[in-house]
Amino acid sequence: MARKPLIAANWKMYKTPTESTAFLTTFFPLIKQNSQVEIVLCPSMTSLPALTDAARHTSVYIGAQNMHWHENGAYTGETSPTMLTDLGATHVLIGHSERRQYFNETDTTVNLKLKSALAHKLIPIVCVGEHLNEREANLTASVLELQVSVALEGIDPATAAPIVFAYEPVWAIGTGRTATPEIAEEAHQLIRAQIAKSLTPALAASTRILYGGSVKPDNAASLCCLEDIDGALVGGASLDPTSFAQIIANATAK
Ligand code: PGA
Repeated sequence: MARKPLIAANWKMYKTPTESTAFLTTFFPLIKQNSQVEIVLCPSMTSLPALTDAARHTSVYIGAQNMHWHENGAYTGETSPTMLTDLGATHVLIGHSERRQYFNETDTTVNLKLKSALAHKLIPIVCVGEHLNEREANLTASVLELQVSVALEGIDPATAAPIVFAYEPVWAIGTGRTATPEIAEEAHQLIRAQIAKSLTPALAASTRILYGGSVKPDNAASLCCLEDIDGALVGGASLDPTSFAQIIANATAK
């Protein structure tokens, strides 16, 4: 089954609503010709209303960087899935390594959020990846298998088609170091094999797996769309509309 490439921008804690809207004004004309790639922008929560408004009836999707798994409750500072869908958000990042590192997210909370996103018809982009010390200790395969298997625990394969994974080796995020295409391909194959075990071989074949970690215009062609790589999750280089549009163009130029 053909997997449509997806390229997502993770703006992290950058851009006010005014700056986010200004980005879109410059960005839209640059991607006018695009139809091959699903483009998703994940701004901060405060920019979501402005961006979901501005992107309505366009080919650009708007996602959140995080959400709680409950619909409501006494969870000060959190955002629920229904709050996101009410705004028109369609995607949500789950388990980004910065959430795991600084906000104590675990594979178990990733699993709860993934189930909730699916139940609320949000397309989850589940981030997994090993730390440098784990790679150096030859633990990459076991780390990825554990992260993917716990994320998928108890998920009914009949509901799992929307799930997207992002392989983001932690040592490549914001460091300027990228995985080689061979390293990325190998990790993506491991993730796909674990999806086959946890869900079904058919879902493993149809699930999109993105690469993330210092993707830039000049490495997008070699990293974004290989045999097992179905797009990219882009941090720093997505903050500038020209650079992000160039990544989209280069990734699909082959
Ligand atoms: P980066 O971030 O492209 O700046 O390395 C990627 C990410 O954190 O998703």
